[in-house]
Formats: sequence, structure tokens, C-alpha cells
Amino acid sequence: MIDVQSLTMHYGSFTALDGVSFQVREGEILGLLGPNGAGKTTCMRILTTYLYPSSGTVKINNHDILEKPIEVRRATGYLPETAPLYTDMRTDEYLAFVGRARGLRGDELKNRLNWVQKNCQVQSVWKHTLSQLSKGYRQRVGLAQALIHDPKILILDEPTSGLDPLQILGIRDLIRSLAAKKTIIFSTHILREVEVMADRIVIINEGKIVAVGTQQELAEQVKIQTQTHETPHLEDIFIELLKPRHAGAIAL
Ligand SMILES: Nc1ncnc2c1ncn2[C@@H]1O[C@H](COP(=O)(O)OP(=O)(O)OP(=O)(O)O)[C@@H](O)[C@H]1O
Ligand SMILES: [Mg+2]
Repeated sequence: MIDVQSLTMHYGSFTALDGVSFQVREGEILGLLGPNGAGKTTCMRILTTYLYPSSGTVKINNHDILEKPIEVRRATGYLPETAPLYTDMRTDEYLAFVGRARGLRGDELKNRLNWVQKNCQVQSVWKHTLSQLSKGYRQRVGLAQALIHDPKILILDEPTSGLDPLQILGIRDLIRSLAAKKTIIFSTHILREVEVMADRIVIINEGKIVAVGTQQELAEQVKIQTQTHETPHLEDIFIELLKPRHAGAIAL
């Protein structure tokens, strides 16, 4: 469903992504993890056709991102790290605007607006101007615009950032319920979120993949043993995988 091969991105002389390859199968939820500046947002912006890679190929739903960007955008819903909301619009106006831009009209548009209103829990701010929304509500409206056209693939850059604990649970439940019919990549710094939501995990650091697999597979890779037969915590795996670099950084 998503096939990323040798993806490389240079910003001037700086290499933000360096030969990144991974696949996501249909119906899978992939958690993208990595420290600040690892290259997660860069990778997601390339996958959603907002940024041209320096080299490498990406196929989304069998469409090459460079050859068929319109088809890729049609099949994909994207929640950017900072949602470019039109702050003088109301929530309902903005979502209707995005829906029309996505080609929805009439009853179809109305049904989708009702769906996102209910499922992204934005009823209480439906008639509010976007500039007045709290960060958490902005994030939910961002998620609603990503879902308005019922895309097969969702790319979510830190979807629960700025949300309170109850909202986080709500968004987690929503993402999990969507997974039955969609393929999802999400990034986060909350490791617990990956533990409870992701089928597989990609960890990147300084533009390179350091590990890919299920939590169990990553645990085997770093050979962490626990007293019981339970899978080690992702936090311990994450620290173990990134430790040599951190130790080096501290030594400097
Ligand atoms: N437009 C740009 N021009 C130059 N460098 C950039 C640009 N965008 C990103 N970078 C650099 O590329 C690297 C990767 O950035 P990116 O935003 O992809 O990281 P990230 O993993 O999403 O980090 P975070 O967890 O902080 O969101 C960083 O070092 C960043 O400073
Ligand atoms: Mg980012």
C-alpha cells in the first residue's frame, strides 16, 4: 500500500533523510518514531507530495508520488505538524471549504461534514472562528480536514500533540477504529501511544532508519531481557537503540 525506497532529502548541504526504505501494508498502523530533528516530518511531507525528495521513490496505493501526485493526494489524508488553518473562517466553513476542494458536493458533502463533526468531536466549536480555538480543538479540526474525503491512507504528524489526556484517549480510539478500513502512518513522541496503537514501528535518527518491526521484533533486535515473559517497554527499547549516539552527544 505504501512503498518507500531509498528516500533521501537534502536541504542545501544538510541531509535530513538518508536512504530511508520501509513498507506499510494495507490496513496496518505504522508508528514513526525518532528524536527531534530525526526527519519524521520531512518524510511525511514527501509522502504527501508537499515536498520533492532529492532521490528515492515512493509509491502510495501503487501511484508514484512524482508521476501521479493528484492520485496520491486523492487517496491520502494528511494532518501536518502545524495545520495551515484559515484562521478567519469558522470550523464549519473551513471543513466545507476543504470538502469542496476535495470534490465533495451536495448530500455527500453534508454526510461527510456530519461524520467528521461527530467522530472528531468538534460539535462544540462548529460555529467558532478558528483563530479562537484552543490548540487541542485546532488539532481535532486538523484531523477532521484530513478525514473529510474518507481517504484510504492517513498520514498523521503528531496527531495528539497539544491534547489533554481525555482528548488523547478519544483520538486514539478514533484512529484505532479507522484502522479497520485504512492504512495509517503516524508520528509521535509519546511512546505509550505507539505501544497501544501501532502494528509496526519505524525508528529513525539523523535521517536514517535504526529499526523496523513489531515491538517484539525490536526488543529481540536490542536483546533486552525482562524478568517476566512480557515484551519490554518501548521506552527501554528506544533508549537502547539510540543510546550510543546520545552517549556521544553527552561526551561532547
Ligand atoms: N526547510 C528546511 N530547511 C532546512 N532544514 C530543514 C528544513 N526542514 C527541516 N529541516 C531540518 O531537517 C531535519 C529534520 O527535520 P524534521 O522536521 O523532518 O524532523 P522531525 O523528526 O519531524 O522532528 P520533530 O520531532 O522535532 O518534529 C532537522 O534537522 C531540521 O532542522
Ligand atoms: Mg516533526
